[in-house]
Amino acid sequence: METTPGMPSAGIWGVGRAVPARVLTNADLEAMVDTTDEWIRTRTGIERRHIAAPDEAASDLAYRASRQALENADVAAEEVDLVIVATVTPDMLFPATACLLADRLGANKPAAFDLEAGCTGFVYAITVAEKMVASGAYRRALVVGSEILTRITDWEDRATCVLFGDAAGAAVVGPCRAGTGILSHVLGSDGAGGDVLNMPAGGSRMGTSEETVRDRLHYIHMSGSDVFKFAVRAMGNSATESTQRAGLDRDDIDLYIPHQANHRIITASAKRLGLPLDRVVMNIQEYGNTSSASIPLALAEAWEDGRVAAGDNILLVGFGAGLTWGATVLRWLDDGDRR
Ligand code: ACO
Repeated sequence: METTPGMPSAGIWGVGRAVPARVLTNADLEAMVDTTDEWIRTRTGIERRHIAAPDEAASDLAYRASRQALENADVAAEEVDLVIVATVTPDMLFPATACLLADRLGANKPAAFDLEAGCTGFVYAITVAEKMVASGAYRRALVVGSEILTRITDWEDRATCVLFGDAAGAAVVGPCRAGTGILSHVLGSDGAGGDVLNMPAGGSRMGTSEETVRDRLHYIHMSGSDVFKFAVRAMGNSATESTQRAGLDRDDIDLYIPHQANHRIITASAKRLGLPLDRVVMNIQEYGNTSSASIPLALAEAWEDGRVAAGDNILLVGFGAGLTWGATVLRWLDDGDRR
């Protein structure tokens, strides 16, 4: 769906990020499972990942990223009337991590809920926030992707444990001048692929029991090659469609920020889109795959690095468990674009 010309819009006013202090390198992993630094780097592009402390939860990283985003947006926590946290690793199954976060930030009883769309969570969440703000129903939304994936990582499974890390990224969404902010989006899903990437136990299908723990069913299970093939196709299609819906051509895209799952997926999707690599943000080498945190983390880093300027067209593209996919094109705001 593209935003309707002349209708009020919503866009990102500020971004923030947080990562845990502890770093786990590929060399560390060599001592834990049968793998090598060379295999991990060439197959995934990952060199290290940041790992949460034992007492660090998704809401803790979300809090740090949110404080930074609010400061960069020059918005007070009391002004926030909508909080959406995208996560597959909430603090608890309930209450929602968004409620815990809103309380800790000192927001004034905002609407708050979690959203689960696998690694596409942030793209889904920012689209929902944009619609709720552009409608006029809400004024200041806080959208966060936060994950402690290492809590659901099977450290005995070399095929998955080398891939994941912990992080959070946050964005403040507010009203803006028509023709700026979020210009278009594409969201989709195919539940027939639900079994290629899941955490089998701990939900209502398979409650927690001694057997489920023994059988290691509370960890990420993944058919990597199936996800790989799906990812390249889904990213290419949704990115192209979203760019067209924004009324833009690939040459108009100043920055491409894909979900960071594998450097080969990122470069293959950029090639498919015809985008040169100097317009692609890639930080997987430092953080690994941080699921719904990866896109806002990369966006916040790109902004800090001065790679984002007012008027730039930025393409965010995600894919993940569900299977889900999503893309959005946004035009970065000038202070004068805010409404
Ligand atoms: N170290 C050494 N060897 C390994 C490792 C490892 N860490 N992991 C797997 N291997 C071996 C396999 O056993 C296999 O050996 P075999 O040929 O003797 O059987 C060989 O390497 C090749 O394995 P593949 O799985 O075919 O390797 P592939 O090139 O597909 O790379 C990878 C695997 C990196 C997982 C890739 O498929 C990928 O990135 N897929 C997408 C993953 C993804 O995006 N997931 C999103 C999940 S996020 C979420 O929603 C929580």
